[in-house]
Amino acid sequence: MSKLNEDALTAALETINNRGDFSGQTGLVLGSGLGHFAEELSNVQRIPFHEIPHFPVSTVKGHAGELISGRVAEHRVLVMRGRVHFYEGYTLDQIIFPIQILRGLGAQTLIITNAAGAVNMEFQPGDLMVIDRQMNLTGRSVLSEAEPLRPYLRRLGDLVERVGREMKLPIRRGCYAGLTGPSYETPAEIRLLRHMGVDAVGMSTIHETIEAYALGMEVLGISCMTNFAAGILDQPLDHEEVIATGKRIEKIFSELLHRILIQI
Ligand code: HPA
Repeated sequence: MSKLNEDALTAALETINNRGDFSGQTGLVLGSGLGHFAEELSNVQRIPFHEIPHFPVSTVKGHAGELISGRVAEHRVLVMRGRVHFYEGYTLDQIIFPIQILRGLGAQTLIITNAAGAVNMEFQPGDLMVIDRQMNLTGRSVLSEAEPLRPYLRRLGDLVERVGREMKLPIRRGCYAGLTGPSYETPAEIRLLRHMGVDAVGMSTIHETIEAYALGMEVLGISCMTNFAAGILDQPLDHEEVIATGKRIEKIFSELLHRILIQI
């Protein structure tokens, strides 16, 4: 970690710790329109992101930002409700800062979620996909050294599948590709991604996951298919549809997360 980030992290953690007991075994990052989970925690404490020194604050609709601590049964969780993206002009250091905060507050496991476009033709909007593999197609890396990268833990993905079966939810598994955005892909790009073995596409998650892995955390990634990726339907994508699908399934998604946390 750069000296600059280290000093910023120290200042941010000091502010957070002065505001209350923010600690937890599991950290969650909630993607676009998937914030409902945070409404159903007990023993909740909150800090808006903008009150945390050096914390990056999103400008995107659907990304209201706050750090929340709370409980699911006896399990203590720390939730990042909202995140920033590279296309908003933030540096990679800023994008991974919330992950460093979660680790600094004691989280050993990261559950990272996102809204994604379904590239796999068998997927439908509303489907949930455990991320088994990822492709970093942003042309940038948060790591300065070569590292073997196998960030997603199979055990946690298996748990989601088991809980999904109990809830009668079809849980997909597959490869998530992270692009820089901000525009959605073209149909030609999606066709290429499909040929490359990509199942879902989005504009977040990959750098955060790599950082979490580098910090020694166990990572579970879940993508919510908010739309068919470009070119599958004969109509252009729109951001409102992405938000609307998130809204439609956020209660179910929230219940899935609660059940996972009880068993994790
Ligand atoms: N492409 C990229 N990012 C996304 C999409 C998509 O189709 N849907 C939600 N995030």
